[in-house]
Amino acid sequence: MLLKRHSIRKYTDQSIDTDYVRLIIEAALLAPSSKSSRPWQFVAVDDRVMLDRMAECKQVGAIPLKNAPLAIVVCADSSLSDVWVEDASVAASYMQLQAEALGLGSCWVQVRGRYGADGLPAEEFLQELLGIPETINVLCVVTFGHKNEERRPVDPEKLLWEKVHVGRWNPMNE
Ligand SMILES: Cc1cc2nc3c(=O)[nH]c(=O)nc-3n(C[C@H](O)[C@H](O)[C@H](O)COP(=O)(O)O)c2cc1C
Repeated sequence: MLLKRHSIRKYTDQSIDTDYVRLIIEAALLAPSSKSSRPWQFVAVDDRVMLDRMAECKQVGAIPLKNAPLAIVVCADSSLSDVWVEDASVAASYMQLQAEALGLGSCWVQVRGRYGADGLPAEEFLQELLGIPETINVLCVVTFGHKNEERRPVDPEKLLWEKVHVGRWNPMNE
């Protein structure tokens, strides 16, 4: 399954079965987190008008929001975990893997550290738009949908094994 997984940015108009949506959210709630602090919060959005407005949160890289039937905003309460970015990242990845296992496409749309055309942080834009409290950080939005683009599976021969060091750091790998 992992060789076939790719970021999918084009989706058909078909909505996602509610059982599948539930499984995707369940995957996030099953994700491991530091000290089991589970600092995450998720906002699931399937309203077309809202999804289009969310796509305006930043200038580059928000295209997947324009045709996805579902997006899940991945947030976390940073006061609950000093490593909330990692905690929320694992949850986002779990959702992507569950989506792939269900035959659906997904794409991570980065929010943290990104800015809109007017210089407004993408995070603040989404907090305002979706009523997310200021105390809740936004990491990313993950889009989901039925795939409407073909992506070739990864050739295992092309994996970057030179990035793997066994036993100790091997300078020959650099
Ligand atoms: C932290 C992170 C941020 C990303 N941000 C975006 C983004 O803002 N927009 C987007 O279209 N893709 C985004 N992606 C998807 C990457 O572009 C994609 O994973 C990468 O090009 C590798 O392609 P693959 O997922 O098909 O293997 C992001 C992925 C990660 C892990």
